[in-house]
Amino acid sequence: MKDEREVIEIFENFGEKFLEEEKVNKKAKNVRKLIVKLLLPVKNKRILDAGCGIGLVSKNFLKFNPKEIYCLDISKKMIEIAKREIRSKKVKFFVDDMEKVKFPDNFFDIIVCNFSLHFKRKIRTTFKNFYRMVKQKGKILIAIPHPYRRTAKYSKNYFKFKKVWIIDKRMKRFFYTWKVEDYINIPIKIGFKLKEIREVESEKIGKVIYPLYLILLFEK
Ligand SMILES: C[S@@+](CC[C@H](N)C(=O)[O-])C[C@H]1O[C@@H](n2cnc3c(N)ncnc32)[C@H](O)[C@@H]1O
Repeated sequence: MKDEREVIEIFENFGEKFLEEEKVNKKAKNVRKLIVKLLLPVKNKRILDAGCGIGLVSKNFLKFNPKEIYCLDISKKMIEIAKREIRSKKVKFFVDDMEKVKFPDNFFDIIVCNFSLHFKRKIRTTFKNFYRMVKQKGKILIAIPHPYRRTAKYSKNYFKFKKVWIIDKRMKRFFYTWKVEDYINIPIKIGFKLKEIREVESEKIGKVIYPLYLILLFEK
């Protein structure tokens, strides 16, 4: 619960600023576009945007005529902004924890979780909840900050699992140091099939160029 309280506090303070930053964050924009592209066609599909923030991934999906989108975030503030930013009868909004939220079994065609899973100490239970809620043959797409770049920049020991706090001029935030193999093996053990991996965008740290985002697409 402590982590969840901290996430809420982070995004209560950061919500409006996030909106400003993301309007000009070209790399993050490209990733959201790619996420949607990897999941097309979405016509007549029911989508869960888990950790939706201010709803930017959902906004991209709306252009492709899905049946409905469930925007879910643990932060009330982010959902308030998302409601203000998205005006479509196809979108419903929920404040809840993606690890615990109780939508029906086999309910969604697609679950997307962009840049939100690394806040979780227990990703296994979150993946289990996703598995329960997605339909047979349904898709789950996870996008996270690439663990290699994260190690180069913040956590130093790639193999040590810990909670890392970042305090910079942007904001105070944390993440858990899950490895690439965790993000792949945990969902596979639950029953998902891995369909595609993408390592996209880049950042130069010192003299080395690292991948910025890791995108994983699974099927139930
Ligand atoms: C970096 S933002 C990304 C938002 C959005 N997915 C996007 O593409 O812009 C992370 C979001 O995940 C949400 N979040 C973190 N942990 C969560 C949880 N356990 N359940 C639901 N939302 C969560 C935060 O409140 C925040 O809005």
